[in-house]
Amino acid sequence: MSPIKEQLRRALTVERYPRSSAYDPQWLIDNLMGPHPLWLAESLTHVMPLHPGMRVLDLGCGTALTSIFLAREFGIQAWAADLWTKPTDNWKRIQEAGLADRVHPIHTDARALPFAEGFFDAIVSFDAYQYFGTDVLYLPYCLKFLKPGGSIGIVVPGLRLEPGSDMPPYLATRWVPDMCSYLSPSWWRRHWERTGLVTVEVADMIPDGAEDWLRWLDACDLVGRGFEPDAEMLRADRGELLGFCRVLAHSTTRHIPR
Ligand SMILES: C[S@@+](CC[C@H](N)C(=O)[O-])C[C@H]1O[C@@H](n2cnc3c(N)ncnc32)[C@H](O)[C@@H]1O
Repeated sequence: MSPIKEQLRRALTVERYPRSSAYDPQWLIDNLMGPHPLWLAESLTHVMPLHPGMRVLDLGCGTALTSIFLAREFGIQAWAADLWTKPTDNWKRIQEAGLADRVHPIHTDARALPFAEGFFDAIVSFDAYQYFGTDVLYLPYCLKFLKPGGSIGIVVPGLRLEPGSDMPPYLATRWVPDMCSYLSPSWWRRHWERTGLVTVEVADMIPDGAEDWLRWLDACDLVGRGFEPDAEMLRADRGELLGFCRVLAHSTTRHIPR
């Protein structure tokens, strides 16, 4: 193995994520769209049980790595739904991964889902739900596609600060509008619970999420795919405020059509 490959492999082998650590770092980096997608997915599975044969919608799946991972590791049927990535490209990756019978690529806007109501046992979303799910009407909309009692689990960039709170200077000077979608676990809990349609079982920050985010960026930097502005901000933050929110809820009622 070349020295750089060996460095990458070491950097991306993390005890907390034994399943993800077995995947080829080059495959991960070639298909990256943000933070390490398999670490986000594996961290959700620490709290969200997935069983063979479950029908799972992976909303905003990007290059479908998380759909491939969850199908391979947990035996689920995954619908890999995304807006920006071509489903033909995802189909190629899915076939190469040997999962053509279990991962189904779909091009769709999360706000116009082409599925039957009540079809899914679970919905998951990694580093994507923040693009559409802060709309107060979005959760009621997407729950229509979940069977009664089904589960929804998301992992999104998070900030341990309520909107409108004073920010430390290292955040204020680096603030960009996208960061308005970095919200806290309690914000997400309230946002979902007030619909009256779910019971929120977990709303927390992933343990060591910021450290892992920086570890990933540093590893990507080894092969020229890092993103220094985020790495600088994470270094300045020292794991205080930034990280990833993990939210898991179960639908309590049938959607009432209006
Ligand atoms: C930062 S990427 C993350 C992709 C992938 N989940 C991952 O972790 O690598 C965000 C993804 O959200 C998807 N997305 C954003 N808005 C969307 C929408 N309205 N409907 C469906 N997908 C959307 C984009 O297509 C993009 O692939």
